[in-house]
Amino acid sequence: MSGGLKLDNIIFTGRTYEEYVRMFNLTADDVATLTFFVCPGGASSFPAVAHQRGGHVVAGDIVYGSSLADLEHRGRSSLEAIRGGMGGARAGYHWDAFGDVDGLIRIRAEALDAFLADYEQGLGEGRYIPCSLPSVPLGEGAVDMVLSDHLLFTYPQFFDKAFHVESLESMVRVARREVRIFPLIGSATSLRPQYFDEVMDSLRALGCEAAVETVAYHFQQGANEMLRIRKVH
Ligand SMILES: C[S@@+](CC[C@H](N)C(=O)[O-])C[C@H]1O[C@@H](n2cnc3c(N)ncnc32)[C@H](O)[C@@H]1O
Repeated sequence: MSGGLKLDNIIFTGRTYEEYVRMFNLTADDVATLTFFVCPGGASSFPAVAHQRGGHVVAGDIVYGSSLADLEHRGRSSLEAIRGGMGGARAGYHWDAFGDVDGLIRIRAEALDAFLADYEQGLGEGRYIPCSLPSVPLGEGAVDMVLSDHLLFTYPQFFDKAFHVESLESMVRVARREVRIFPLIGSATSLRPQYFDEVMDSLRALGCEAAVETVAYHFQQGANEMLRIRKVH
């Protein structure tokens, strides 16, 4: 794989439904009326909660298809890794939403629990599907909107420009309306990858409008922007 995959270095966590709404500037109407593909879904509660509310969300992740026990082990180990890592990194984050590290872990654990409770049924129903970016195993225009957070641009140390360009091409292919990506800076560097502008150029060459928008969600300092990609026909 381009960029080299270091899966054990990429934590298996998930944001909550409420965090997704804020990260991606979603409205209640969006969730009620649009179809979504979320990748990587990780241990997010967005697919489970949206499904409970009558929404249509398919989530993909490279580890989906693994056993429930394996994903629970990955999820709980990742929470411990966050607890260990956050001690020294507190200063780089805005804590108004979580309060402190215990509050952050509590919210992440709520997302993980909701994901685990939904996983086996959702896997059987095709709402959780194995997906190894840069490929997406869905047909052209399969959903209205693709949401992708905390993989692209987050780990430039593992994923190169070609991985980003190919992943975004796959997402644009399956999205009828839009692709939204969050955040636009690295988790370790707090900077946009050096190839960011070239990735934007590749989207325009595909015939897309690509614009950076500020969102309400702001935990990692500087990580309050999403990339909004619209197909121009
Ligand atoms: C930091 S988590 C983000 C999960 C989720 N978006 C959230 O709410 O936080 C990163 C996820 O990327 C997944 N992943 C890593 N490489 C992948 C790839 N090539 N294709 C799809 N998923 C991948 C990992 O399994 C992990 O669940």
